[in-house]
Amino acid sequence: MIDIYSAPLQGFTEAIWRRLHNNIFGGISKYYAPFMRIEHGEIRKKDIRDIAIENNQGLNIIPQILASKPDNAKRTTEHIISLGYKEIDINIGCPFPPITNKKQGAGMLCYPELVIEMLKELTQYKNDIQFSIKARLGLKADNELINLIPEIEKFKPTELTIHPRIAKQQYTGDILINQFDEIYNATSIPIVYNGDILTVDNINSIVMKYPKLKAIMIGRGLLYNPALAREYQNGKKLEIAEFMTFSNQIYNYYKDTLQGDSHILAKIKPFWNYAPDFIDHKTTKLIKKSSSLAKYENAVNSFIY
Ligand SMILES: Cc1cc2nc3c(=O)[nH]c(=O)nc-3n(C[C@H](O)[C@H](O)[C@H](O)COP(=O)(O)O)c2cc1C
Repeated sequence: MIDIYSAPLQGFTEAIWRRLHNNIFGGISKYYAPFMRIEHGEIRKKDIRDIAIENNQGLNIIPQILASKPDNAKRTTEHIISLGYKEIDINIGCPFPPITNKKQGAGMLCYPELVIEMLKELTQYKNDIQFSIKARLGLKADNELINLIPEIEKFKPTELTIHPRIAKQQYTGDILINQFDEIYNATSIPIVYNGDILTVDNINSIVMKYPKLKAIMIGRGLLYNPALAREYQNGKKLEIAEFMTFSNQIYNYYKDTLQGDSHILAKIKPFWNYAPDFIDHKTTKLIKKSSSLAKYENAVNSFIY
């Protein structure tokens, strides 16, 4: 059986989601935390809390840093090392313009000299921590990552996760599978596949096609079906009751820790964009329209199962 990794999803796969997911569903060998970054000269406080050891007990967490100027990458790396982590992931794939315009994330892919400089600077930490890389094919062109492979090989990452799209596509449109094949065949770096895996059949076809793959990383597929990795491993499908427990526990956590209805609703409602098929459209519409916690709770409770 191939290892299944949980992809980092800013705003979704935070520590509470990871802890509850692991307790209720399991099946994940590594949980990638959403990227840490420097804002106004400091590592964001929420990022520090998200990877704090006490918030991630019993989980195999891989903290992630955003590809950026060496000074920023070094500061986040040093913070992660100070907590005792042994593996760190470098994000060279984030496609959002506010990030890429600053030549961070996927914005670095068309500036090979910046990637090389960052990797060189991070090499000094290799006695303390191992690095993996998560990337997409390019910012503007689909050959930017493959052109960087010889430099990435020199850096010897433990794994290279590839989302086979370019930044303009963000997370939709055709997966550029031929370009993925090219990198898979060209390098001896262990490759992790990431993109549009929603079912056990999807996992099986990728495994059949790429027998030397190291792992499969799943993002949105685990929001739609948090039991997907477990189902792949032992056939036990997602049950409505366990999904509702998971969802209610995430809600209760944010209700207890965030202030004000609008803040709490802004946090919880986006999860319902990824509701499993068995939640009918009428219920999700009602949940997404709710303008107070009381209305939200009524809408959720209106779902009879
Ligand atoms: C809302 C959202 C937030 C994301 N946050 C991160 C992140 O913090 N770090 C990262 O490497 N990728 C991030 N991604 C990309 C995912 O990790 C993943 O590569 C992408 O969703 C494709 O995989 P999927 O088709 O299995 O969802 C994010 C994607 C989405 C949709």
